[in-house]
Amino acid sequence: MALSSHELKQAVAKAAVQELPPNALLGVGTGSTVDCFIDALAEAGLSIQAAVSSSVRSEQRLRDHGIEVLSLNDVEQPLDVYVDGADEIDGTGCMIKGGGAALTREKIVASASKAFLCIVDESKQVKTLGRFPLPIEVIEMAIRPVSRALLAMGGQPKVREGVLTDNGHCILDVHGLSIADPLEWDDRLNAIPGIVAHGVFARQKAAKVLVSTQQGVQVVSFI
Ligand code: 5RP
Repeated sequence: MALSSHELKQAVAKAAVQELPPNALLGVGTGSTVDCFIDALAEAGLSIQAAVSSSVRSEQRLRDHGIEVLSLNDVEQPLDVYVDGADEIDGTGCMIKGGGAALTREKIVASASKAFLCIVDESKQVKTLGRFPLPIEVIEMAIRPVSRALLAMGGQPKVREGVLTDNGHCILDVHGLSIADPLEWDDRLNAIPGIVAHGVFARQKAAKVLVSTQQGVQVVSFI
């Protein structure tokens, strides 16, 4: 019988635990796949130094399992590895993230880590990023000017109704983009005032991706 979407997430989460270095200082992302990873980590009883979380949601789950959570400001050295899911990942390890509205903290914690270990099921693999609407965290007073800039870049931004990020900002989901050059998009979006962070992860791309398939978990390395 085919594995369900949840079972695929559980399988890749278990495989990710096997990839961790001993006694790791861990960066932890956000989302349903990461929820499975946190559960698998606790179940494995693996010893880690501590975790730095990218969201209130993951922090709570880590603490519920008795895993120590540190603030990034209390950590002196780079985190050993950052484990997170993605909404889309291309053949070079660049990703769209932010479906769970945690993209800003995810980018910060990923940047503070030596390597990004991405955990996905095969539905997230794409040739070109952009079918998944690109999440962008925006300061509320800048929604109109940022939206105009995004329209001029060929996208159709829509405010994600009823959602505020852990940082108290809004999310714009930008439809209709084809992100063939993620590095260029990363830099162009960074130049728009009012954007706190955007979901193109090209400068924080995955070093390794574990892909959950019906045939098992495949490992793709980008370094
Ligand atoms: C949250 C994210 C998630 O990694 C992304 O949305 C994938 O989530 P899931 O594992 O639930 O499919 O970027 O901001």
